[in-house]
Amino acid sequence: MRVLVGGGTGFVGTALTQLLKARGHEVTLVSRQPRPGRITWDELARSGLPSCDVAVNLAGENIFNPLRRWNEAFQKDVLSSRLETTQMLAKAITKAPQPPKAWILVTGVAYYRPSLTAEYDEDSPGGDFDFFSNLVTKWEAAARLPGDSTRQVVVRSGVVLGRGGGAISHMILPFRLGLGGPIGSGNQFFPWIHIQDLAGILTHALEVNHVQGILNGVAPASTTTNAEFAQALGTALGRPAFIPLPATVVRAVFGRERAIMLLEGQKVVPRRTLATGYQYSFPELGAALKEIVA
Ligand SMILES: NC(=O)c1ccc[n+]([C@@H]2O[C@H](COP(=O)([O-])OP(=O)(O)OC[C@H]3O[C@@H](n4cnc5c(N)ncnc54)[C@H](OP(=O)(O)O)[C@@H]3O)[C@@H](O)[C@H]2O)c1
Repeated sequence: MRVLVGGGTGFVGTALTQLLKARGHEVTLVSRQPRPGRITWDELARSGLPSCDVAVNLAGENIFNPLRRWNEAFQKDVLSSRLETTQMLAKAITKAPQPPKAWILVTGVAYYRPSLTAEYDEDSPGGDFDFFSNLVTKWEAAARLPGDSTRQVVVRSGVVLGRGGGAISHMILPFRLGLGGPIGSGNQFFPWIHIQDLAGILTHALEVNHVQGILNGVAPASTTTNAEFAQALGTALGRPAFIPLPATVVRAVFGRERAIMLLEGQKVVPRRTLATGYQYSFPELGAALKEIVA
């Protein structure tokens, strides 16, 4: 199939592109940077959707960009980079003389309200209680297409764990030095997914015709807490991981609103993802981390 991937130059997009090519699909990226084999968002807006079988959107300003303070200007960029690219692709799909068979968006489990007791599947309510949950609601609404000639899938991803990017790249140095540990109380849930499984779920969603609607993009071992994650990362590295990162420090570095994503968490189960027949490569945290730090 010919697959168009918005924001496909990033951490998830690189893994997805690799998997798609290995499975014989053709990939075109949409990027802010013109390069051979890519189109730019301006070209998409000007010339419409290039002929493709599936469109995916992964574009978005990195929320944990360490170079940006959590102020109004940055929040606006976080929001508009997701809404505008998603709207642009949805509009191009609607206008295309031959619309793609599937349209897939990755959002986040921040849709669900952090809790120490609740368990969330794809039918659980959410999306209306803080900046990030409202962002997911607007983001998913921006993707919605009228009619059903194109299959629509939204993957709500947990923290993506993989080599050379994402959350692990920020944590690995202190953990390697034996200075890692739980964040805040460590009791908060830590919904995670191995990057190969997120790429796998997206590929499954684009290849399998009956997949539609919301899929939770988290590993099935959903009961991991942040403290268990810290311990497992320490074990994978053969290092102690007992030094907690105090909540006050996290709030001071990331700002109160962004710190919530680290200090609180959701227990999320991929009920529909499993029901659609997706088989995880890394269902267990220990094996996932071992592969990543090897
Ligand atoms: N990584 C995670 O743990 C995680 C968890 C849940 C959800 N997600 C979501 O999954 C998607 C992909 O994540 P990722 O980790 O692969 O992201 P990423 O590497 O940080 O960025 C993806 C791409 O977005 C484009 N981009 C960045 N800032 C932009 C802006 N201001 N305007 C337009 N495009 C911009 C960039 O492409 P160009 O420079 O080529 O334009 C970048 O390569 C994101 O929407 C993210 O919110 C990620």
